[in-house]
Amino acid sequence: MTVITAEGLHKTYGEAVAVRDVSFTVEEGESLAVVGESGSGKTTIARMLLGLEMPTGGSITVCGRPRTPGRVSSKERRRRAREIQIVFQDPYSSLDKLQRAGDVIGTSLSLHFSLTPADLRRRTVELLESVGLGERHADMLPRQLSGGQRQRVAIARAIAVQPRVLVLDEAVAALDVSIQAQILNLLADIRERGEISYVFISHDLAVVNQISDTAIVMHRGEVVERGPTADLLRAPAEPYTRALLAAVPRPGWTPTRRERSS
Ligand SMILES: Nc1ncnc2c1ncn2[C@@H]1O[C@H](COP(=O)(O)OP(=O)(O)O)[C@@H](O)[C@H]1O
Ligand SMILES: [Mg+2]
Repeated sequence: MTVITAEGLHKTYGEAVAVRDVSFTVEEGESLAVVGESGSGKTTIARMLLGLEMPTGGSITVCGRPRTPGRVSSKERRRRAREIQIVFQDPYSSLDKLQRAGDVIGTSLSLHFSLTPADLRRRTVELLESVGLGERHADMLPRQLSGGQRQRVAIARAIAVQPRVLVLDEAVAALDVSIQAQILNLLADIRERGEISYVFISHDLAVVNQISDTAIVMHRGEVVERGPTADLLRAPAEPYTRALLAAVPRPGWTPTRRERSS
């Protein structure tokens, strides 16, 4: 089943074109990467998928329902939130500094499910555990958590509503490489457990390689290359993709000299 169909997406800000004629689909359980350097239009795509930004052209269909422009009722907003959730790069700015981890998750749960206080607590602890934290983290404030732990809380908040699609916009970009790997493993586990799809946005092809099946490569708002991630890494057709690859040498994964020069 196709969970997202984006067709001919276009977004302009005044004279500037942020996204130009971008089309892609995301299948149930698939992880699609959106790769490109800063300013290539990735976040604009994320914001349009979430309904935070209206496309100037083209269409988005989520779980078979076309996203129509204009105001939506709060009931419709809640329904859409159960279809698609997002995790941003910096959990410190996306989390309320005065809200404890348990309440972050509890608020998300309460918006979408009617639970008794006991069930709410139980479900919150389950979610903390499902992202590798524990009950002891429930009462902690963002500043009492590490960057990786904060991102785990943001992931728990997003998966609390059991969305069909999780958009991850540079979700590991601010983390140290070893913590990145832990979060990528967690995301892989979550995808194995459920029927969730990812739109994984990153400037870093080495990271994308670990988490996505297919990728689209963005350059100045346009898709310049697409295909299975492994193929793009092994034999990038576009000079732009090759340049992206060359920009992200990483211990444990580097293109061979032959791949670099081919
Ligand atoms: N709200 C906005 N107003 C004007 N220009 C914007 C706005 N948001 C993004 N842009 C422009 O659109 C382009 C794509 O930005 P963005 O989607 O944030 O790229 P990325 O996430 O790949 O770094 C950039 O040139 C950016 O300056
Ligand atoms: Mg961005």
